[in-house]
Amino acid sequence: MNRILNMGVISCSGMAESHMIAIEKNPHARLAAVCDIDLEKAKKTAEKFRVDAVFQDYRELLALRELDGVVIVTPDQLHREMAEAALAAGKHVLCEKPLALTREDLCAIVRAARASDRKFMVGQICRYTPAFKKAKELVARGEIGALTFVESEYAHDYTGIIEPGTWRADPLRNGVVGGGCHAVDLLRWIAGDPCRVTAYSNRKAFPHLDYDDTTVAIMQFPGDVIGKVFVSIGCKRAYTMRTVLYGTEGTIIVDNTSPHMTVFKNSMSGSLFDGVRPINAPVLLPVSISSHNTIGEFNEFCDIVRNDKPVVTTAEEGAKTVAACLAIVESADTLTTVLPDYHF
Ligand SMILES: NC(=O)c1ccc[n+]([C@@H]2O[C@H](COP(=O)([O-])OP(=O)(O)OC[C@H]3O[C@@H](n4cnc5c(N)ncnc54)[C@H](O)[C@@H]3O)[C@@H](O)[C@H]2O)c1
Repeated sequence: MNRILNMGVISCSGMAESHMIAIEKNPHARLAAVCDIDLEKAKKTAEKFRVDAVFQDYRELLALRELDGVVIVTPDQLHREMAEAALAAGKHVLCEKPLALTREDLCAIVRAARASDRKFMVGQICRYTPAFKKAKELVARGEIGALTFVESEYAHDYTGIIEPGTWRADPLRNGVVGGGCHAVDLLRWIAGDPCRVTAYSNRKAFPHLDYDDTTVAIMQFPGDVIGKVFVSIGCKRAYTMRTVLYGTEGTIIVDNTSPHMTVFKNSMSGSLFDGVRPINAPVLLPVSISSHNTIGEFNEFCDIVRNDKPVVTTAEEGAKTVAACLAIVESADTLTTVLPDYHF
């Protein structure tokens, strides 16, 4: 396709606007339609982004023939029906994470994506965070040797974000699946699919919630790598995803909210390291801060669609991340070790 990609965005939330900005900034795409069940909100957004086609019902947006693709930025519980409808309408789809909240919905979306000739991509946005991309690159090229232990945390104080009765308070949309999926996806991306999970959780920050607010999971990864994910949606601190990757030759300490990442390494290899240095002298690598790099994410989606490239974060990939999250929740609930089911 060598014409402009006409995109629609379903939802006009703050996060949806971030996707709209990403579409606007891409020279090969155009924001052609917006939609929100809250029509007044949709009209305001349409005016702000100078879009003529504005809808309250997403099915009317999907009926627009000139639309090539959509971004789904609605509550997680709605992803399945909207993903299925968008594919059935012949649209390419970029769907927000988590792909869905139940195994049934995950399977249905994977089935629909497989049966379609349209591109379906899940927005696993941490894979576009400059610091995490750099960390993945360093690990892949062997800068820290073989991985031994990997850990990541999703520390995000949801005070004021979860109101009783809203979609985020749904027990299916607990902290591990809803936000912790970022940390789980990051470790899956770097270390592979965790094969065994043992988790513990508690509920002290938000005792009124129907699910636990703090969780730790110990996991076994392929190749005898072990790891840990910590999720807190009640922590009293600024949002961050601190991540540490330990290898036989070095260590990487990285997050998505700092202007640099830290690498410990005592041997000389690659272009980063200028000679033999004591292991306790860290290298500080500058990185640009972009914890929600919707621009990088959309640029990839646009390139995949326009140039018919394979999707990396496919429906299966998004489903596997949720499957690992569901295993963590099950383990914490049952106090047993759980083997995630990655068959979709
Ligand atoms: N990638 C990230 O880091 C990130 C960050 C925030 C949210 N998200 C994800 O984005 C999605 C939306 O989250 P949010 O923070 O924007 O939520 P939100 O509650 O702020 O906004 C949801 C919007 O969807 C609209 N909506 C609800 N039902 C609809 C329907 N049937 N048709 C059209 N519009 C409808 C609401 O009116 C609202 O404007 C979720 O899947 C969430 O997990 C991802």
